[in-house]
Amino acid sequence: MMTSGDIRQKFVAYFQKQGHAVVPSSSLLPDDPSVLLTTAGMQQFKKYYTGEADAMKDFSSKSTASIQKCFRTSDIDEVGDETHLTFFEMVGNFSFGGYFKEPAIRYAFEFITQEIGLTIKYVTIFEGSHGVPKDEASATVWKQLGVSDIREEGIGDVFWGPTGTEGPCGPSTEIYCTNTNGQDVEIWNIVFNEYYCSGSREELIEQKEGVTLKPLETPGIDTGMGLERLCMIAQDAKNLFETDLFTPLIALLPESLDVRIKRIIADHGRATAMLIADGVRPSNKGAGYILRRLMRRAMVYEHQHALSPEIMKQVLATVIANYSAHYPELTSEESVIMQVFQAEYDKFTKTLQRGVRELEKVAFLDAASSFKLYESFGLPYEIIKEMGGTRADDLTREDFEEEFRKHQEISRQGQEKKFGGHGLILDTGELKAGTEEELAIVTRLHTATHLLQQALRETLGNEIHQMGSDITAERLRFDFNFDRKMTDEEITKVEKRVNEWSMMHLPMQYQEMPLEEAKTTGALYFFKEKYPETVKVYFAGQSLESAVSKEFCGGPHVDNTARVGIFHIVKEESCGAGVRRIRATVE
Ligand code: ALA
Repeated sequence: MMTSGDIRQKFVAYFQKQGHAVVPSSSLLPDDPSVLLTTAGMQQFKKYYTGEADAMKDFSSKSTASIQKCFRTSDIDEVGDETHLTFFEMVGNFSFGGYFKEPAIRYAFEFITQEIGLTIKYVTIFEGSHGVPKDEASATVWKQLGVSDIREEGIGDVFWGPTGTEGPCGPSTEIYCTNTNGQDVEIWNIVFNEYYCSGSREELIEQKEGVTLKPLETPGIDTGMGLERLCMIAQDAKNLFETDLFTPLIALLPESLDVRIKRIIADHGRATAMLIADGVRPSNKGAGYILRRLMRRAMVYEHQHALSPEIMKQVLATVIANYSAHYPELTSEESVIMQVFQAEYDKFTKTLQRGVRELEKVAFLDAASSFKLYESFGLPYEIIKEMGGTRADDLTREDFEEEFRKHQEISRQGQEKKFGGHGLILDTGELKAGTEEELAIVTRLHTATHLLQQALRETLGNEIHQMGSDITAERLRFDFNFDRKMTDEEITKVEKRVNEWSMMHLPMQYQEMPLEEAKTTGALYFFKEKYPETVKVYFAGQSLESAVSKEFCGGPHVDNTARVGIFHIVKEESCGAGVRRIRATVE
């Protein structure tokens, strides 16, 4: 049998042979603020299509290949059947201004038919609409390769993107194979990224006024193949859960358990481990809320079916063991994954029984009564829907989420009241303060952040740079690129260095100068950011030349490092693949 490991290896070897740089998966938490979680392999490469970044410079090649961790929330309600997952791995090759249609199709054909040894049932091509012509070129290539079943489809099926509110997109051609049950399954989506769409996918399809398709500066190829589906076909498995990616997880669950529930626990367990390893923590919003729902759903099944409380932990441990060779963050975050799960378990199981009793009492589960159950007992939508049976027939996710939004709006207004109705007195995006007192603290923490970055560079290497910073009156939070846990010695050293500088009573001052000149001072700045023509360079020291720290910055800062006070690192943790997060305070 061809294992998932064999497939990974064959994919990497094949595309390396065709000159592709193999790039590690990016985090499930994307840099791109327009999307909540990573949903496709192309996301980490968006900037190479738009021309903002140069693939040749970064990868020494115009083409890359990756096996990307992905998560699609759209399928949460479907998980449990034979074909839907939340977390999955997308195998794909990409070209940024390099090869285009003919090689892209030929590579896919060769890989599927020769490397994996499968038969292609049929392929699809774009029929043409929305000002984009019919994809005759792809049809010609397929015919030359001997594929004769070529089906034309519309913009809903064979036109990909954009993700989020705007971005690269284009027509695609898909490959279908037949599984052992005789069902035709889409295996590979090959996208010809040719356009930049100024609106969302929905707006494009609806032909909303003002939404345009402009040819991309660097047209290219974006392909995606679900590893789980490919394994299903290659392993003659009846469904995704009978592939070697899932059988070790399913095997941990009692045989008598309903098959749907087994699949949900396996899927949610896999996703839970992956999300926590990338820095997601259970919460009531965004990605944290998704994680919370996955964990709680598994916990409810455990409760309902009197499963051992250890089962979910065994699932997580097995995911870590089976995937850590591909995703080393699972190893470094192993104890964190277990702790986060346990903490959520302790929190939720306290109210779960009471919540279930309350749920039984409600005669009619509409959005309002369901949201109350969520608010008081933490029961997520899918649990209420499922446990409510016919009493929840009219309950829809849309209505529930609408209730959620209303509630968030009310609590936001409450927040504003707390700050006297006119909001924060300082909010730079990075620094937030509600009162004069808070302002004084965040200003000290801000200077501490500059010193921290410099101390990290001295201790861990000059490639360290800021990837995120968030400062409140309670603490600073600093994210930086580093691929392992810092040792206790390193943490102590960094702390000591910052405190030394503050004891040196260095003046903290700035010089304003033209951007290009500022860049030559050795001050740190974000390569990607667009700066104005004149910038301020803040430095700690007697002169810009002799300063211990210099950064492009808008302030505010204390006037002397002595005012920072005693600096203390409270926590050092992972916040995604290759990214660490430090929380620190000043006294
Ligand atoms: N980006 C394309 C997809 O996700 C390949 O289907």
